[in-house]
Amino acid sequence: MSRSIRLAVIPGDGIGQEVVAQGLKVLSAALPQDVKLETRSYDLGAQRWHATGDTLPDAELESLKDHDAILLGAIGDPSVPSGVLERGLLLKLRFAFDHYVNLRPSKLFPNTPTPLAGRPDIDFVVVREGTEGPYVGNGGSMRTGTPDEVATEVSLNTAHGVERVVRDAYQRAAARPRKKLTLVHKNNVLVHAGHLWKNTFDRVGQEYPEVTTDYLHVDAATIFFVTQPERFDVIVTDNLFGDILTDLAAAVTGGIGLAASGNINPSGAFPSMFEPVHGSAPDIAGTGKADPTATVLSVALLLSHLGHGDEAARIEAAVASDLAERDAAGPRTTDEIGDALAARVSG
Ligand code: NAI
Ligand code: MG
Repeated sequence: MSRSIRLAVIPGDGIGQEVVAQGLKVLSAALPQDVKLETRSYDLGAQRWHATGDTLPDAELESLKDHDAILLGAIGDPSVPSGVLERGLLLKLRFAFDHYVNLRPSKLFPNTPTPLAGRPDIDFVVVREGTEGPYVGNGGSMRTGTPDEVATEVSLNTAHGVERVVRDAYQRAAARPRKKLTLVHKNNVLVHAGHLWKNTFDRVGQEYPEVTTDYLHVDAATIFFVTQPERFDVIVTDNLFGDILTDLAAAVTGGIGLAASGNINPSGAFPSMFEPVHGSAPDIAGTGKADPTATVLSVALLLSHLGHGDEAARIEAAVASDLAERDAAGPRTTDEIGDALAARVSG
């Protein structure tokens, strides 16, 4: 645990700006007096792209490296062509900093709404591979825009890449009370990648005899997310399946306003990046309706990653009690929720 945190902040676009301000507020409230917090803000995203055409210049990528962690709000706006900022900024960061663990906890807090009947006990973590799969840009098209267009988008899976994320998932499962790990793939159809994943999962599992294992095809997993979410503890899966499953997970655990995530480089070679799962929500930007809780929970993940587990637990407890009393509080603005959480954390 370090006594100083050098934090790079990328507020980004739309509600990204609004929720990050609250995340920083709660972070400052949570840290003990003797931990020094240094932040540097980066102007990246749609506004910057419109003004200069830059997505993520090399000089800024270099300077981002010089931090303990990154807090990101959201990037994107309908005025920017699809893919420009996703590939040029978000994916570029994840690949350049080798964020091979995309961590997405899903927990149903007391009193939060869920569309699921009977309020099942939901408390699981998805460990999504972050640097491979169909997201590597390995593809192309020919006769583009004609009726004879051909397009490929190849899923890349390496023994190295699969093993390191599977190992990370076993370690996380071993550290949790239930010690259960589920591999989600589609190895009956995607047999080549599926073989690599399943074999690696079984082989690495021999080193973690205390962890109970399970395997599900991704389509079956979507059923169980809805009918039996309590069966999950830790899930490990590829980049694309993880992207889709975690949106579903967010939907059954109180919605996108609560879903937090970390893009983690477990080796520490580069800073890890923490962000809410949601985007820039242009439909509510500037109205004060954005819920900053997902960002605040992302700050808790950040603190836990940096070894400040006690502070992370205090933030999670503050969120739990805030959610428990939400009905009584009536509708609140982004800022008011941030203030309430900061007060609970320091109180
Ligand atoms: P979105 O997550 O921004 O919004 C989806 C819906 O959820 C909207 O109705 C929005 O108002 C609501 N919502 C989102 N966050 C909320 C919050 N904290 N509190 C209350 N309501 C919230 O997804 P959408 O509309 O598909 O994308 C908008 C832009 O964000 C696009 O440009 C997209 O590319 C970008 N995006 C960026 C992400 C990132 O930076 N990692 C992730 C997802 C989308
Ligand atoms: Mg997504």
